[in-house]
Amino acid sequence: MKKSLDVGFPVFRETCYGPRRYLPRMRLEPVTEDNYRAVVDLEVHEEQRGFVATNLKSIADAWVYRPKMQPLALYAGDELVGFTLLHRDQPHDLHIVRFMIDRRAQGRGLGRKGLAAIAEVARGEGRTRLTLSLVPGNAVAHGLYAAFGFKETGEKDGDEIVMRHDLAPARHSPQG
Ligand SMILES: CC(C)(COP(=O)(O)OP(=O)(O)OC[C@H]1O[C@@H](n2cnc3c(N)ncnc32)[C@H](O)[C@@H]1OP(=O)(O)O)[C@@H](O)C(=O)NCCC(=O)NCCS
Repeated sequence: MKKSLDVGFPVFRETCYGPRRYLPRMRLEPVTEDNYRAVVDLEVHEEQRGFVATNLKSIADAWVYRPKMQPLALYAGDELVGFTLLHRDQPHDLHIVRFMIDRRAQGRGLGRKGLAAIAEVARGEGRTRLTLSLVPGNAVAHGLYAAFGFKETGEKDGDEIVMRHDLAPARHSPQG
C-alpha cells in the first residue's frame, strides 16, 4: 500500500475580486514504478540547471545510498510538482539533499509548502533539525530557505553554503 503524508488542507479563496491564491494540499509520495518516469521528466529552468542535479541522478543516488536516502515526489493535490531527496544519517537531523519544483509550477508558493511538508516528516520522526547546502548565487533558493527559518552555519560543503533550520514543535496549522 502506498504511504502518503497529507499536510494541511486545501483552501480556495474566491473573493468579489475573483479567485485568489490556491493553496493546495502538499503530499510527499514515494517514487515508485507508477510515477518515476514523470518524476524524471520534471525539470527546472535552464538557468537553474547548475543549482540541482537531475532527478534521474538523484534517483540513482538514492538507489546507491539506500536505505538512508529516500527519493520523494511532491504533489500539490493530484499534480506532480516537484521532487526531494532526503538523507537520514544523523539521529536528530533530516538532510535535504535535493529539492526542486518543476519550472511550470514555480512561483506559486509550492517551494515553501514543500519545505513545510518535509518539516512535518522530520517532526513526525522526532527530529529537531533540517539541514541542506546550496550553490552560492542561488538567490531564489537562499531567499526561500532564509524566509522559512534556515540560517547559514558558516560551514561549507565543498563550494556549497551549509544552512540549518532548528525545528520548533509542531504548530496547530501544519501548512507552514
Ligand atoms: C528554489 C525553488 C524550489 C523555489 O520554488 P518555488 O515553488 O518557485 O518557490 P515559492 O513559489 O514557494 O517562492 C519562494 C520565494 O521565492 C521567490 N521567488 C520564486 N521564484 C522567484 C524568481 N524567479 N525570482 C525571484 N524570486 C522568486 C518567491 O517570491 C517567494 O518569496 P516570497 O515568499 O517572499 O514571496 C525553485 O526555484 C527551484 O526548483 N529551483 C531550481 C532548483 C533549486 O535551486 N533547488 C534548490 C537547491 S538547494
